[in-house]
Amino acid sequence: MSFNLKKIRENFPALSQTYNKKPVIYFDNACMTLKPTEVTDSIIQYYHEFSGCHGRTNHLFGKKTTKHFEGSRKKIRKFINAAHAEEIIFVRNSTEGLNLLSNTLDLKPGDIIVSSDIEHNSNLMPWQKLEKKIGIKRIIVSTHQDTTFDLDKFKKKMNHNVKLVSVLSTSNLTGVNFPIDEIIKIAHSYGSLVLVDAAQSTLYRHLDVQKLNIDFMVASLHKMWGPTGVGFLYGKRDLLERMPQFMVGGETVDDTTYNSAAISKLPDKFEAGLQNYAGVIGAGAAIDYINKIGQKNIYKQINELNSYASDKLLSLNGVKILGPEDPSKRSCILNIFLENKNVVDVSRILNESENIMTRVGKHCVHSFYNSRKLNDSIRISFSAYNNYEEIDTLHDTFKNILKYF
Ligand SMILES: Cc1ncc(COP(=O)(O)O)c(C=O)c1O
Repeated sequence: MSFNLKKIRENFPALSQTYNKKPVIYFDNACMTLKPTEVTDSIIQYYHEFSGCHGRTNHLFGKKTTKHFEGSRKKIRKFINAAHAEEIIFVRNSTEGLNLLSNTLDLKPGDIIVSSDIEHNSNLMPWQKLEKKIGIKRIIVSTHQDTTFDLDKFKKKMNHNVKLVSVLSTSNLTGVNFPIDEIIKIAHSYGSLVLVDAAQSTLYRHLDVQKLNIDFMVASLHKMWGPTGVGFLYGKRDLLERMPQFMVGGETVDDTTYNSAAISKLPDKFEAGLQNYAGVIGAGAAIDYINKIGQKNIYKQINELNSYASDKLLSLNGVKILGPEDPSKRSCILNIFLENKNVVDVSRILNESENIMTRVGKHCVHSFYNSRKLNDSIRISFSAYNNYEEIDTLHDTFKNILKYF
């Protein structure tokens, strides 16, 4: 494990581009991270050298594809310390993992699902749909004013009708980490399962699924330097074995008659149709790259950058933070409101004048903004390849915009 920023930046070709003779500054990492050459090379290698199909094919390219595809599954197993490789199900993204679960978990009318008030739409809408469709009930536990998790409130809401606690690991709004360990212990003491939405955290927060006793977890590779269109669902083997299939068809079945189907074992049971082989192979390369840099080093870098940026930006007039003041509680995210300014315009000017890419809006957590009557905000989010000079440019540009615009 080593951290050499210059080398890391060289590995991400998108960073060496210029527009209008100025470098690009990418601060939208909570949405999508950039990709290192290790990842893109592995994808090109699949397409150029052995673009076959995984599974039953017994020829050269098929065997090679299977080896690399299953190799990625093993890498992810190790990365989150799952007990078995077949507990990793490849999906397109966290959203698909959450939909797979909401469509296959054994939930009945009156069963309760508990979540927080800062969940992404992807961990809200599937449960709203089930509420309408079969009459499950939902309890939303409000977070503290600064969006940190309120364990006391959570304990008070728990009861034996709660069948699932579905919460995020790290917030895409404020970077706050939820106390997953305590949440799981409390939920399990009531006999509830726990689903962790780790979409935002998997790059830098190590979640050991066995140690934490996580029942289900979802993640998206595009937020962890991997390709788009690849995510995974982790589930304990006995739970996944008992669940019915989600999508069905080729690859999920061992034999059929016109009236019956012999369903495949895990993980094939849930991976319908030919898969995103190139993407999954790229996912394996992303895991290797993260391991090479080290999750602790990644966290240290993003949090130090966040601390530096928070000091600079929050000292400007009219800039207000969403979430805790203390940057050590906000991992890689600095989400701000601007008094008397149109944030869409500010974000556009940052982009047009200095190629500074940020995100503006309600960040797919509209429910929270609506309930607390909050305006749109600008989210600046860091990855380990960002540096201090980029933050200085952001600060200086921001200052000018606030002064003259
Ligand atoms: C906390 C959280 N959950 C879920 C999602 C949805 O992820 P995806 O769009 O990859 O399915 C996101 C994406 O931003 C997220 O930040």
